[in-house]
Amino acid sequence: MPQESQTFERTVPLTDLAATEALGARIAAALSIGDAVALEGDLGAGKTTLARAILHNLGVTEEVPSPTFTLVQYYETPKLNVRHYDLYRIEKPEEVDELGLDEALDDGAALIEWPERALAWLPPDRLHVAMSLTNGSRKARISGPPRWAKPMQAEATA
Ligand SMILES: Nc1ncnc2c1ncn2[C@@H]1O[C@H](COP(=O)(O)OP(=O)(O)OP(=O)(O)O)[C@@H](O)[C@H]1O
Ligand SMILES: [Mg+2]
Repeated sequence: MPQESQTFERTVPLTDLAATEALGARIAAALSIGDAVALEGDLGAGKTTLARAILHNLGVTEEVPSPTFTLVQYYETPKLNVRHYDLYRIEKPEEVDELGLDEALDDGAALIEWPERALAWLPPDRLHVAMSLTNGSRKARISGPPRWAKPMQAEATA
């Protein structure tokens, strides 16, 4: 389908934690098996906070630690399995191979912090969330294939 190559782009202000929670709820509602969500942004931009919001909205009640040292955390939710990655400490692309990113998408979804460490692996139809904190103002620039446009539109106008 030619439309699949089209992309959308939209910016969502994340003025407080409630805004990040609301964005997480939107992403969680639309998330399906095979989806990759790239959470890009500098240290402290809010990537783990958004990953937590997505997981909470999928029904995860346990604590969601940052995968800074484990590199990946695994969650089973009623809707689908989710692997939460933090690739900050990845130094060589071979290390990514060992993290089972391909398998992750076979039976679930993946939330990936520091996705730039694994660019070659990332599926082109990922939802890409570029988070930033500039002069105290947080926002997320969201882009992806057309099927994500509608759920993300609802967030932008909420
Ligand atoms: N929308 C928001 N409003 C206010 N504070 C926020 C918001 N999002 C995140 N924060 C706060 O910013 C801090 C850093 O957030 P977080 O750990 O999610 O960043 P990160 O991008 O995952 O950082 P790292 O690169 O170290 O993994 C936390 O204290 C978090 O509570
Ligand atoms: Mg983090």
